[in-house]
Amino acid sequence: MLFDRVKSLDAILATAEKKGLHRSLGAFQLTMLGIGAVIGTGIFVLTSEAAQKAGPGMLLSFIVAGFVCAVAALCYSELASMVPVSGSAYTYTYAVTGELLAWMVGWALILEYAVGASAVAVGWSNHFIGLLNGLGLHVPAAISNADALMAHVAIAFGAAPSADLTTAMATGGWVNIPAVVIVGLVTWLLVLGTTESARANAVLVAIKIVALTVFVILTIPVLKSSNFDPLMPTGTVGVFGAAASIFFAYVGFDAVSTAAEETKNPQRNVPIGLIASLGICTIFYLLVATGAIGAIGAQPVMSAGIPLSPGSPELAGRCASIVASGTLEPLVCSKEALVHVLSSIGWPGVGRLVGLAAVLALPSVVLMMMFGQTRVFFTMARDGLLPAKLASVHPKFRTPHVVTVVTGIGAALASAVLPVGKLADYSNSGTLFAFFMVAVSVMVLRKTDPTRRRPFRTPAVYIIAPLAIIGCLGLYFSLPLTAILVLPGWGAIGLVVYFVYSRSRSHVGRGLTEVVSDDELAPAPPGAR
Ligand code: ALA
Repeated sequence: MLFDRVKSLDAILATAEKKGLHRSLGAFQLTMLGIGAVIGTGIFVLTSEAAQKAGPGMLLSFIVAGFVCAVAALCYSELASMVPVSGSAYTYTYAVTGELLAWMVGWALILEYAVGASAVAVGWSNHFIGLLNGLGLHVPAAISNADALMAHVAIAFGAAPSADLTTAMATGGWVNIPAVVIVGLVTWLLVLGTTESARANAVLVAIKIVALTVFVILTIPVLKSSNFDPLMPTGTVGVFGAAASIFFAYVGFDAVSTAAEETKNPQRNVPIGLIASLGICTIFYLLVATGAIGAIGAQPVMSAGIPLSPGSPELAGRCASIVASGTLEPLVCSKEALVHVLSSIGWPGVGRLVGLAAVLALPSVVLMMMFGQTRVFFTMARDGLLPAKLASVHPKFRTPHVVTVVTGIGAALASAVLPVGKLADYSNSGTLFAFFMVAVSVMVLRKTDPTRRRPFRTPAVYIIAPLAIIGCLGLYFSLPLTAILVLPGWGAIGLVVYFVYSRSRSHVGRGLTEVVSDDELAPAPPGAR
């Protein structure tokens, strides 16, 4: 039987009890933890990509993506409060739907976390390069992006050598070195066992909130209503396409769920933390998007009536031509959307400070995502599904150094050659699958184990969970085709690994459901302490 290997919920809970973390977090700290993990490359960079897909209609995209995250968050909360152990969605599905689907979720979480970390690293790189340029230190294009490389790849795969591709080859770069450097640095910090303190997290949250507030204060007064016309130049397809991409801006709130076992009164505080952090981010995102659109406009760059694909070498080439012609760079071309808007409306100095805020704050988002990845890998290895070597703990630093370095190498390679929008879309395809499975699991568990204690119950679960399922499916199928294909492609590799390696070595499969402890690791998620 394929679906018969379910991990006992009691064994999982015994692990959590053995871990016995001190319950110290309140609603406020949880909200700060959520905001710290959520605000990042999505709003600072992907606003341009969303505009390229939906024009001013991206305002609706932010609402759609925020709604899907809110209903998914309510499902997450129930499982997080019931099964408060590391591994998040992977662990929940192991207990509910069995090993095979849990493996697939864990495998998909690699996309969410490791590829997501690469996306944030590229967003950081954009701002770092912008900051250096502002200081008169010019970073050569060859080592600041991979647009020329992508143009060559496109042509090698049969794309016609259009004027846009030729420009991308002439002006673009080959590898994104700053992104590789920041991933390397974060990997090193994680190996040393640095998890950011709650105080450092609070400072970074404040920096991000101040930067976004200043942006709103300077842009809303110069808003021109004509910039909202046409509101939806690419129709509802564009709005949903942008929602599927901008979904990335909300990812990270699951950090709140994973801190459930360290929360005082999780029944009350976990949902408050999740909903408050999502609510606050949504309000900021809507205000920032309104300011950006209203200040300089957000119409997509088209080719024969169709918007060029964000992150494509064609769009990079077209944007390079527009800038070379001396015309004001459109929002959709900017690699640092918010900085660019402020410079365009006469606040270049403040724009640089907003860029500095991104440079200071985004590494903590990379850290959160890489930390999440190492935890999922570690848990899978501990369950026997990945080589035990991966779960080994550094004798001095007490950190899972092998998985951390493996994750770092993967994330660095991806960030070296892929554009931020594509990385975010690939990450989203994995995240949407994990959220989908969480929504399914919460309903299955209500049926199969109705009497188990649920410190938090999803309200109206048979409405909320199906809405989350429909929302995840809707966003998934609104992603670009390559991102849609990444999930089954990656999943197929995962299945091969599972059947060739993991299935025969699984501890559950071999009857080894021992209760193991996470005590040997520094357990708190970054920002929780
Ligand atoms: N939501 C996070 C970001 O936008 C991942 O960077």
